[in-house]
Amino acid sequence: MATAGRGEWSGKLGFILAAAGSAIGLGNIWRFPYTAGENGGGAFVLVYLFFVLVIGIPVVLAELSIGRFAKLNPVGALKKIAPGTKWSWLGGLGVLTGFGILAFYSVVAGWTLSYLWGALTGHASDVTSAEETAAVFNHLIGGSIMPLVLTAIFMALTIFIVRGGVSGGIERATKILMPTLLVVLIIMAIRSMTLDGGSEGIAYLFKPDFSKLSVGVILAALGQALFSLSLGMGAMITYGSYFPDRENLPQAGIIVAFFDTAIAFLAGLIIFPALFSVGVDPNGGPGLVFVILPSIFAQLPAGNLFAVAFYFLLAIAALTSTISLLEVVVSYFVDEKQWDRKKAALWIGLACFGMAVPSALSQGAVGGLTDFLGTGISFLDLQNIIWGNYSLSFGALMLCIFVGWKWGIPAALGSLESSGHRLAVGGFWSILVRYVCPVAVGAILVYIIITQQYF
Ligand code: TRP
Repeated sequence: MATAGRGEWSGKLGFILAAAGSAIGLGNIWRFPYTAGENGGGAFVLVYLFFVLVIGIPVVLAELSIGRFAKLNPVGALKKIAPGTKWSWLGGLGVLTGFGILAFYSVVAGWTLSYLWGALTGHASDVTSAEETAAVFNHLIGGSIMPLVLTAIFMALTIFIVRGGVSGGIERATKILMPTLLVVLIIMAIRSMTLDGGSEGIAYLFKPDFSKLSVGVILAALGQALFSLSLGMGAMITYGSYFPDRENLPQAGIIVAFFDTAIAFLAGLIIFPALFSVGVDPNGGPGLVFVILPSIFAQLPAGNLFAVAFYFLLAIAALTSTISLLEVVVSYFVDEKQWDRKKAALWIGLACFGMAVPSALSQGAVGGLTDFLGTGISFLDLQNIIWGNYSLSFGALMLCIFVGWKWGIPAALGSLESSGHRLAVGGFWSILVRYVCPVAVGAILVYIIITQQYF
């Protein structure tokens, strides 16, 4: 039984859809392709895949084991398992990280609304040359009123759903929409791969050029794997806490990781062939996806209809992710500070919008935010790196140490297997959580601190 009043998913499928909804989002369709492009393609993709298997899946299971056992938010969960210690601070960092990610993620999610509007009004494929689509994009994000309004709309939608609670709000939205997204992506990938010159894009994505590997590339791949799977900050602790006792949790977790990775690869198979076909530089940064997509819709029969479907589903995918980010923060205030859920969703959402303002204005509107403090990158990009790469990596490292060494594998496995379904690879999982993840993630972070190659 779930703790009274906290809510519970309606079943395993409900959890899989909600957790996949959290995992699948702008991370797969916006962040993965441009990060792969910035980091040289194939070699990055290979390292990313390696991290999904060796660090991502073990951390998914580690977070779910904590959540299912404690049935609490990240702070409460760590307090319950390790009372009287400072481990609950790690949960606190997770809550803060959720807030930090939501504050830039909602800005990018807002951009998708503008593209959805463009498609709805029949303008999805008005301009197709890369110069023109880039100009349209830069005009949109470089404004001041529009990005703020779009971010506000997106935040309002997120608040509205989180107010409604776990199974009422979150589950319902994902049940039909996630499968539909998959179908639309497959059709778009087929079109893109059959464009003239498309095969070059496939080679770029899958032929590793190891001379492109550096610690920066490796950290980017680690951050991307964690970000995409919604790991390192307790989102899966929170989602696991609503998991029904009788169902097979490890299996559900692995299914989610599989789908998330498949969607990222599909996005790559949409973006890179089209990119080579129109002759755009893969190293285009955060605007990459928004610049490339219009050219694909222009080449699809009923392209505008596809554009409507795609941008609608992308916005929904982003929404099911922002919901999970806000949910982590809200569940902390509801469980630990006894706030009313509706009040918590509203005030935290508003505060997060405040934090999003500088990111929204950092794409050209305000010079000091566009090249923030001489870092050479915008305030938004900096937030993306700090929370998305560093904080998640550090969080994942500490969560592995917590589960592997403080709480202990037998207890964690007991929680994962409490429904009677065994995790066949339990021994292997133990080695990954206790040794491989902490050493690998720790080594990357230490190397970066020593060499000071922060961005
Ligand atoms: N995984 C989501 C995406 O790929 C973003 C996200 C939602 C997230 N919740 C998270 C990332 C928690 C890290 C942690 O778009």
